[in-house]
Amino acid sequence: MKAVETKDLTKIYSSSFGKKKVQALVELNLDVESGLIFGLLGPNGAGKTTFIKLLLGITFPTAGNAKILEESLSNYSVKKKIGYLPENHKYPPYLKGGEVLKFFGKLSGMNGLDLDKKIDELLELVKLSQWKKTKVKAYSKGMMQRLGLAQALINDPELIFLDEPTDGVDPIGRKEIRDILVELKSRQKTIFLNSHLLSEVELITDRVGILNKGKLLREGTVKELTEKKEEYKIVIEGNAADLDSISFDNSFTRISDGSYSVKVADINELNKTIDQLRSRSILLKEIIPMKNTLEEMFISLITESEKNIK
Ligand SMILES: Nc1ncnc2c1ncn2[C@@H]1O[C@H](COP(=O)(O)OP(=O)(O)O)[C@@H](O)[C@H]1O
Ligand SMILES: [Mg+2]
Repeated sequence: MKAVETKDLTKIYSSSFGKKKVQALVELNLDVESGLIFGLLGPNGAGKTTFIKLLLGITFPTAGNAKILEESLSNYSVKKKIGYLPENHKYPPYLKGGEVLKFFGKLSGMNGLDLDKKIDELLELVKLSQWKKTKVKAYSKGMMQRLGLAQALINDPELIFLDEPTDGVDPIGRKEIRDILVELKSRQKTIFLNSHLLSEVELITDRVGILNKGKLLREGTVKELTEKKEEYKIVIEGNAADLDSISFDNSFTRISDGSYSVKVADINELNKTIDQLRSRSILLKEIIPMKNTLEEMFISLITESEKNIK
């Protein structure tokens, strides 16, 4: 099943005088399968929040269309199956954690014991049980985001939209949030998250889309997007004298005393080189398939697309 499906989705914002127009999304085509953690990545202003707002019906497309959970956006009943954590959300500071969830639970039509039970379950999931009766003004940023997650889950949604869920949260808090998202995935939820924080998105997403200036530049698994053309690095134990006495097609780079590396272009060369090294009793320490980090790929992709625009 497709959780999200868009066809030439376009959003142009015009100022109140209609003079200045911002193309926030340009003919965007994106499909997201159910059951995945999908990350929409892009710099500030790329159009990520606009994308989520269009899917939720908070704002309307200028052109194109979209489906969520295989229903058209005009079908409001599908909203019952959706959870949403907005960017930079704020709750009234005088409310306690449990009260915030009660408020949102009532908004989604829940009540009584069922709601109380759900609230306790969710506070447990996001590790805030002991903070249930504490006013949210005392919460840290990480705790606020976790409470926000619980709020987005109150109606037991199938599909959850999270806009920058870890922005401004410290490393331990970010890890806690990632763990919750992985747990939700194991409960068959689909998670669509927006982020400009690449290194951590890389750790949990199944697929990512790269958005810049309203255009989807790439979409795929993190592995697909970060793979370089085939290249391997072999790390060996040995010293310069061992290596000088024999001639290889490739030159070795010194890593440290007694440790050298060599790069080879493909699997045949990799095995040929290993044979040569082993026949000389040189010890192999590591064989590493080379790849770009998501961040390197992201920066080169964005820089390239900016060049094309100019
Ligand atoms: N309500 C709005 N009116 C006019 N322009 C907007 C509005 N919301 C967003 N924009 C513009 O649309 C572009 C995309 O914004 P946004 O979707 O918030 O990006 P992101 O979430 O990736 O940072 C930006 O240039 C932003 O200034
Ligand atoms: Mg945003």
